Amino acid sequence: MAATTICSWNDFDPLQHVIVGRADHTCIPPSEPATEAKVPKDSDMHGLWGPRPLETVERANAELDNLANTLEQRGIRVDRPTPIQWNQAVITPDFHTTAMFGCMPPRDVLLTVGREILCAPMSFRCRYFEYLAYHPLMQRYFDEDPLFRWEQAPRPRLTDASYQSGYFDEITIEERLRRTAALDFVTTEHEPLFDAADILRLGQDLFCQHGLTTNRRGMQWLQRHFPDHRVHSVNFPGDPYPIHIDATFVPLRPGLIINNPQRRLPDEQRKIFAGNDWQIVNAAPPAHQQPPPLCYSSVWLSMNVLIIDHKTVCAEASEVYQLEQLDRLGFEVIPVPFRHAYPFGGGLHCATADVLRRGGCDDFFPNQIPGTRIN
Ligand code: ALA
Repeated sequence: MAATTICSWNDFDPLQHVIVGRADHTCIPPSEPATEAKVPKDSDMHGLWGPRPLETVERANAELDNLANTLEQRGIRVDRPTPIQWNQAVITPDFHTTAMFGCMPPRDVLLTVGREILCAPMSFRCRYFEYLAYHPLMQRYFDEDPLFRWEQAPRPRLTDASYQSGYFDEITIEERLRRTAALDFVTTEHEPLFDAADILRLGQDLFCQHGLTTNRRGMQWLQRHFPDHRVHSVNFPGDPYPIHIDATFVPLRPGLIINNPQRRLPDEQRKIFAGNDWQIVNAAPPAHQQPPPLCYSSVWLSMNVLIIDHKTVCAEASEVYQLEQLDRLGFEVIPVPFRHAYPFGGGLHCATADVLRRGGCDDFFPNQIPGTRIN
């Protein structure tokens, strides 16, 4: 096997080594201050919690294994996490919850920036120990790559001070949208919080979605932690559940981004893209009217693609409009069936985390335009 190197600066340079999640033991976590955020009012998940039915776990794992095989057949090295029994309580001096979540979506917790993999300080109490599933891989990378930086953001305490109490009481979709536009989220600014999947990596610039799972303090922490990067805050009015940027604003190759047309990046925040010759196009509509049963995510997982290189992309096999759009944009498209995996934590981008992509830390935004920078 080739020597292990950890290095990735963006989502589109040639992929050589990746982590693909596993669905084993995944639970629907019980309600807690932050999770009401994620579950739509009319969702079939309300009032349900505990281990997911075994046959759904097996179907999801079959799709995840197929994704891993598809990537391996293209010469990409694939590693898998080590699931723990997620149906256990989490007890810390500050909080208690009765079950955890899972390790299907490594993208949520692992942020790869250059030679570093950083475990994110996530805001859901049920996800507090999720990093444990990746610990064996991190240990191995640490032993195999002398330049690997194994990092952990400050562990949040997640006391009640981290959440606005009553935030979701009687909240309508209109009110959710008003609050997204007003940057009024369930997480407070008490301590730094972010999910790795809220951070879009574009070489020297990191664009962070300010939303239900990432606060400004989290972005300030990232700016201090990565002093050679430029950290930006973006937000997407139009999204009543702003959690994770990868079904909203997805770069496909240098200079090209697809934006969810229902979650348009505001004009002021577009200037830095336009001012550096980046084109933002509307993503194709999803092929489905509804997400699959017991799914946290929206139908816009259609956009949640895994890019192999500047000309090749994996997209969900039934997402015919997204496949067509990628084809029109000049990509070779690899259709990958993944709808049974969606309820376990998202699409093809969510279910993976970069270990190695060839390429360096490019400066895609030499014209820095005020309006988004964190300082
Ligand atoms: N929160 C994202 C969506 O469901 C993944 O659209």
